[in-house]
Amino acid sequence: MELFNQVSEVVKKKEGKFAVRGWIHRRRDQKSKIFIILRDSTGTIQCVFDQKFEKQLKGVGIESSIKIWGEASEDKRAPSGVELIAFKLEVVCPTEIFPIAKDLSEEFLLDVRHLWLRSGRMTAILKIRDEIFHASRQFFKEESFYEVSAPMFVSQAGEEGSTMFELEYFGKKVFLSQTGQLHLEAAMFGLEKVYSFGPSFRAEKSRTRRHVTEFWHLEGEMAWFNQEMSMDLQERLVQYIANKVYKNCKKELKTLNKEPKELLEFQKRFARMTYEQAVKDLKKTGFKIKIGDDLGTREEKKLAEKHGPVFVMNYPKKMKAFYMKEHSKNPKLVLCSDLILPGVGEVIGASERETDYEKLVKRIKQAGDDPKNYEWYLDLRKYGSVPHSGFGLGMARLIMCLTGVEHIRDVIPFPRTMTRTYP
Ligand code: 4AD
Ligand code: MG
Repeated sequence: MELFNQVSEVVKKKEGKFAVRGWIHRRRDQKSKIFIILRDSTGTIQCVFDQKFEKQLKGVGIESSIKIWGEASEDKRAPSGVELIAFKLEVVCPTEIFPIAKDLSEEFLLDVRHLWLRSGRMTAILKIRDEIFHASRQFFKEESFYEVSAPMFVSQAGEEGSTMFELEYFGKKVFLSQTGQLHLEAAMFGLEKVYSFGPSFRAEKSRTRRHVTEFWHLEGEMAWFNQEMSMDLQERLVQYIANKVYKNCKKELKTLNKEPKELLEFQKRFARMTYEQAVKDLKKTGFKIKIGDDLGTREEKKLAEKHGPVFVMNYPKKMKAFYMKEHSKNPKLVLCSDLILPGVGEVIGASERETDYEKLVKRIKQAGDDPKNYEWYLDLRKYGSVPHSGFGLGMARLIMCLTGVEHIRDVIPFPRTMTRTYP
């Protein structure tokens, strides 16, 4: 078997004979030399070819795949401080003209997303995304949760009925899951602390910087937890993830022009205020808003700008989903919280769950749905119902917040929106 070194290893060792393989990131031809910046998944290195390679490198352009054998030495002028003088070359798959050059429109880059994924920017984002996915699972493991997979085909709404994708299923009507919550609640009775991590779907007609039709959803459901305990847990989760990204992704954050130190801000306690306080607060800042109005992106961003990460609690019942527990002192409110983060707004939606069978039936009817569709879910309130809480975190939004990337489609490898399912 041939032995190859990763580029980062060569850059670290600085001197010696190495074999590397990857893709041509840049190419510059001089009179007597050809300079190639070679890229692999770990970084880039400058490689130098003398005239005898001219013929072999003819028509070998950016994004061609090649193997190089050479001698490395330190060179301050080279971008990574190390240069590889080639003595052998193999062109694996030559590319004459790569479709992506400089200064192309956002739409074009989305059309060629399958090729754009190789860019330094996308690679940095995907590495951070990987770190966050991994950290999430580590966190839950350390907190003694069990991972449970919720189904994607479902037969009832979990959130607003209007955002359900309906599809034909062997002559029957079913939906794509908007949330794993209801099924997680069922799994909680055996395991007490459970989480699911998978895609959720919303037939979202709004075209905003923070909505997509398919997103990765990290959801937790905890027996015996009240709202306070749930918020404490959510805070620990976000802090845990932010700390991992700070520690392990400094290079990638810098590629995205995000100062890693900014992530340390998440280690402070998160503010907590009620919906009513938030509305009053916004009014004072000049917003035209009254009790009963929902908080939009502008309002949420303002709150986070002022307070940093903030939990907004206890919204009016009529604004929220049927499963949220009624406030014991004010039946017009529910025991819920949205975690609002700087730069993006709502990242987590959470609540205590209604445990009372009759109240739940009434709420399902009020939401315009038929309790018959929820028979199995209602069973959970008949057989050993317990107080419990849960939450759902939109992964893409958290990534936006931690990286400073401004559009949700840029933190997802193949984003799905109202107008895009290609590539
Ligand atoms: O607030 P949501 O709708 O809450 C639920 O689905 C609950 N059932 C979760 C639970 O308690 N288990 O969605 C949760 C989060 C939002 O805060 C947001 O971050 C993200 O999911 N989200 C979206 N992200 C991108 N595009 C969309 N269209 C999103 N809709 C929700
Ligand atoms: Mg929500």
